[in-house]
Order: sequence, then C-alpha cells, then structure tokens
Amino acid sequence: MSKLWGGRFARPTDTVVRQFHDSLPFDVRMYNEDIRGSIAWAKGLVKADMLTEDEAATIISGLEQVRTEFEEDTLVFDEGDEDIHTAVERRLTEIVGDVGGKLHTGRSRNDQVATDFRLWTMQAIRHIQAQLAGLQAAIVNHAEANLMVPMPGYTHLQHAQPVTWGHWLLSHFWPLQRDQERWTEVWGRTAVSPLGSAAFAGAAFPIDREFLAQELGFKAITLNSQDAVSDRDFVADFLYAATMTGLHLSRLSEQLALYCTTEFGFVRLDDAYATGSSIMPQKKNPDTLELTRGKAGRLLGNLAGFLATIKGLPSSYDKDLQEDKEPLFDAFDTLDLALPVMAGVVSTLTINSDKMAAQLEPGLLATDLADYLVRRGLPFRQAHHIIGEVVQAAEARGIEITALTLAELQGISELFGEGVTAVFNFEASLNSRDVPGGTSEKALQAQLQAARNLL
Ligand code: ARG
Repeated sequence: MSKLWGGRFARPTDTVVRQFHDSLPFDVRMYNEDIRGSIAWAKGLVKADMLTEDEAATIISGLEQVRTEFEEDTLVFDEGDEDIHTAVERRLTEIVGDVGGKLHTGRSRNDQVATDFRLWTMQAIRHIQAQLAGLQAAIVNHAEANLMVPMPGYTHLQHAQPVTWGHWLLSHFWPLQRDQERWTEVWGRTAVSPLGSAAFAGAAFPIDREFLAQELGFKAITLNSQDAVSDRDFVADFLYAATMTGLHLSRLSEQLALYCTTEFGFVRLDDAYATGSSIMPQKKNPDTLELTRGKAGRLLGNLAGFLATIKGLPSSYDKDLQEDKEPLFDAFDTLDLALPVMAGVVSTLTINSDKMAAQLEPGLLATDLADYLVRRGLPFRQAHHIIGEVVQAAEARGIEITALTLAELQGISELFGEGVTAVFNFEASLNSRDVPGGTSEKALQAQLQAARNLL
C-alpha cells in the first residue's frame, strides 16, 4: 500500500486513525464527479502544456475504464484509498502506469473535493426540483378535481370561515413553489468552479480556469483561491433549502394526519400509503405522514450540526470540512424518498365531502353576517360587536345563529332586514371572497391556472 503523501512519514498511520480519517465509505458516491473533474483537468493540463495530447488521451481512457469498473462494481479498494480522489488516482495509475502520476500536476485534493462536491450537489438539486415538481403536480391535480368542495376552514384549529378543499390543498402548493425558487438560487451559488485553486494559493501552472468551468457545466469561477477551498456556503444553503422543504412537507403531513382521524374523517389514505397495527386489527395508521413529519427534525439537525462545524474555522482548508458530505447526502436521501412518497399520498387520497359538509355549521358564517351589516352602512367594529351579541343570544337559547327569527335579530340591531337570510348560504359566502387568492370560484380557477402555469 503506498500513500499519496507517504514520503515524509517514517511510520504508518495507526489503524484507528485511518478509520477515523477515511472518507471513502461515503465520498465514493462522488466517483463519477471525481472522474469528470479529472478528465477536464487532463484537458486543462494539455492547454497549459503540462501534458502531451497522447498522455492526456491515455489518462482519459484510463479514467473511463475506472468509471466502468465503478459502474460494474468490479473495482477493488486498497487499504490506502482514504477517499474517492485517492482511490481513482491509485486505480488509474495501476491501469496506465507512471503517466497517471502526472494528473495531479497543479492540483490538490482541496480544490478537487470542492469541485467534485459542487458537481454532485448541482445534479442533486435538479433531482430534488424534479421530485418537488411531481408533488406540486399531484397537489394541483387533486385540487382541480375537488376545487369547489366546501369544508370548514380553521384558525387556531377552530372553525373559522368556509373554504374549499381546492383552496386548502393549494395553500400547500405555494410553499413548495417558494422551495423551487430557493433551490434554483442554491444551484446558482453551487455552480461556481473552484478548480485551479490548488491547495489554497492557486495553481502554479497556466491553467485556463474558465475553460475548465465550461467543460464541467459551471456558470462562473471563484475569484479567491483561499476562499474557494474553504467555501461550503453552498452546503449550508442546500441544508437550509432541504430543511424548509422538509418543514413544508411536515405541515402538510400533520394536517392530513389530522384530517384522516375518525373525528374528522375528511380524507382517506390509500391502502398503499398506510400501514397496520401488529396488535389492533382494525387500525390503519398514517405512518407515512408521521415519518415525513418526523424527518423534518432530522433535516433541521443536519443543518444545525453543519453550521456548528463551519463556525470559526480558520482560513482555507481544514479537515473539519470533510464533515460536509454526510449531512448533505443524508438530507438528499431523506427528500429523495419523502417527496415521491408525499406525491403518492396526495394523488391517491380520497376525500369525504359529506364529512366536510357535516361540519359546515352556521357559526362559520358569522363574519359574513358582520359583512352584511357593513354593506348596510355600519362601521365594521360595531358590526363585529353586534354579531357577537347575536352569537351570544343564540348560544343562550342553545340554537344556531341561523335559527334566530328576524324579529329577534332586529331586537339586537334594526339594520337587519328581510335579505339577511341570503347570507346564510355557504356557497354565497365562498363566492363573496372574490379577490385574487380568495375562495370564489373565479378566484380559485385563476389560482389553479397560475399554479399550473408554473409546472
Ligand atoms: N477527503 C477530503 C475531504 O473530503 C479530501 C481533501 C483532503 N485534503 C487534505 N488536505 N487532507 O475533504
């Protein structure tokens, strides 16, 4: 076993220390990015006159063979392979001979790992965005199919005003749309190439950094080599975006879990998205939703832990930075399952409009009643107070506000007239909220269309 940096050491590394240091078990996920980066680097060395065309061709075909061995799972690791960069270079040199040793000219694992990780993260972001779009599409489709189904709307988990299923479900579309925007911003900050920064002071050979950036699909290059090897803001950004997406999923999950209780019964999960109990045969549990809710905590933990890792780090590369990968991979893997699972939950959900209708009680129309008095010229504050009295009068008699006679209402305010009965209508209530974003059919159709246009 020969180490990349063995020259100045008289004794081999302690076995436990090696285990402690090695990142190969997790950074092996970046093998393809490492090979892509190295192929670009070989081309860059030709442009800098540090490799001949022939040498580069040999190295590139060797790297392609290494990639095939990874893909076919035939590559055997060596004890000295401490990380993916070491493993690829070691295997390359076995395949192509000494010329493989020229590949690391002007390069360091410090700029290499930053390059690889950014490349990996760029494709990961695109993958998450596609899955997010899948969930958004499921939401839009379900909302469209049940757009005007009336249901009670809640604030403080108390009956508040009537809304519709489509309106409620679309309220979970927009947070995900903000996530999409956030992920796009994170991608932009990730797509900056540190390659050519070497250990931290810049490559000592005339490397065309712009060329390398273009070869690899980066949008820009870093402008300070010390910052370039230490910058992990893109990791923190990724973890924050992942946390926000996870929080949004947790809120949707929590609400759906509540809506599928016996007490609510507004929705039913498809059997494929629920699980049973090992002891209580009748049970159908929304574990899927609970897990999604729980995973938000894990995502938040990854973010908090990583921020603590980078706090107060001295300039340029420190080994602490190797702690960047596991939280990001874990956040990715978490969303990579949670997003399609939630898309499946939503697209197979059935709603029970009778249960929703059964909860539509007249109290939900109290605001509409106040608005009725406002339309008759009363300042809203006074109207609010009068309806409070109406509610109290109904409550004292143990009846709904709609059961009070006109005479009784007029006893509280003479502004009540014959037309007041028209207020006691849920559809009219929904349609009266006709502003953009409101519950009227027109407003909801417009919202649905706006959401669709974004997909
Ligand atoms: N495995 C290391 C990492 O993930 C690569 C960089 C090593 N650089 C060093 N100076 N030890 O960060």
